[in-house]
Amino acid sequence: MTATAIAPSNLAPVPGPLPGAPRMLTGDRPTGRLHLGHYAGSLANRIRLHRRYESFFIIADLHMLTTKNSPAEIAETGKHATDMVLDSLAAGLDPAHSVFYLQSAVPEVAELSLLLSSLVTVPRLQRIPSLKEMGQHAGQREMPLALLGYPVLQAADILAVHAAVVPVGKDNAAHVEVAREMARRFNRRYGEVFTVPDLVPADVPVLPGTDGRAKMSKSLGNAIYLSDPPEVVSAKVRRMYTDPARTTAGVPGTVEGNPVFVYHDAFNDRPPEVAELKERYLAGKVGDAEVKEKLTAALNRFLDPIRERRARFEADQGLVEELIVTGTARTRREVKRTLADVRAAMGLTTALAGFRRAARSRSRSRSRSRSRSRTEDVRDRG
Ligand code: TRP
Repeated sequence: MTATAIAPSNLAPVPGPLPGAPRMLTGDRPTGRLHLGHYAGSLANRIRLHRRYESFFIIADLHMLTTKNSPAEIAETGKHATDMVLDSLAAGLDPAHSVFYLQSAVPEVAELSLLLSSLVTVPRLQRIPSLKEMGQHAGQREMPLALLGYPVLQAADILAVHAAVVPVGKDNAAHVEVAREMARRFNRRYGEVFTVPDLVPADVPVLPGTDGRAKMSKSLGNAIYLSDPPEVVSAKVRRMYTDPARTTAGVPGTVEGNPVFVYHDAFNDRPPEVAELKERYLAGKVGDAEVKEKLTAALNRFLDPIRERRARFEADQGLVEELIVTGTARTRREVKRTLADVRAAMGLTTALAGFRRAARSRSRSRSRSRSRSRTEDVRDRG
């Protein structure tokens, strides 16, 4: 991971993809504000790619229900979704090139998920490690059906919009593989309907937390948020875990895997400064305080333009909500079309069409015979 690899890309508006350009889909469950870990792991990739495709971003509230489904958790969806979209725009997604949509407001996806569920077996899903982890993490002793079906629903999301590319982190790679298998199986069995999606893997290692634990995460309370003000960033960095063996500045330290240097590598836009700090750190010639001050400065240089854009988008009241409403309507049209194609390809429309024809012809012949008997009545009376 290098600073240039994840620096905000050129944000000047550029022409959009041509109509019919390949589609990209990715997104998150609405669990709140985005942090530096999200940026390194997925946002940077999204920002880099999104203008090349017709880009869809899912707010996966149905997926959230597989582990978080209390009324209180569900009530937070709106707030969390707007925060997430706002953070994404602030980080550099161009609203003119991004379709944001709320999964639960596209109910056709659930029907598609049901139809696809006959294309995968239970043992295949049980072998996916991320699902077991998610269940344990959520305190479930046994696997809920919805959680086992998580990758099937995700496949429905992906296939419903004919996404050609799906950039996701490590945890989701196995789910995209399931989607690929299902698309191929469907196309072979019922005819070519689906695009087989390609996984775009995140090419960056997982960002550690400020406490030195392996992963930055909201639930671990070890995150620096894109929306944190400068003072908060500075306080969090001051408390950051570094090399525990280094009791004073004179003790040579370890750079490898040291979160302070992992963040420097990821976010400091001055590589010579980082190289020089590392050299002195290894030699026991710099205190943690200086390394941290320089990190705070670098993070604030990185976050300042994000904060500015966030404030601008926030001041444009109703913009985020409008983007979600129009994006959801747009996506729903696409998904309805796909679902109609799927039902037709599977032959699910044939039986009902036959019933309708027969019912119509019966009602026609009945009304003919009724009108015949009416004429006869008239004749009799006359
Ligand atoms: N599973 C993703 C997560 O970890 C969210 C998601 C749902 C998704 N459907 C998707 C990602 C389709 C990419 C494509 O939160």
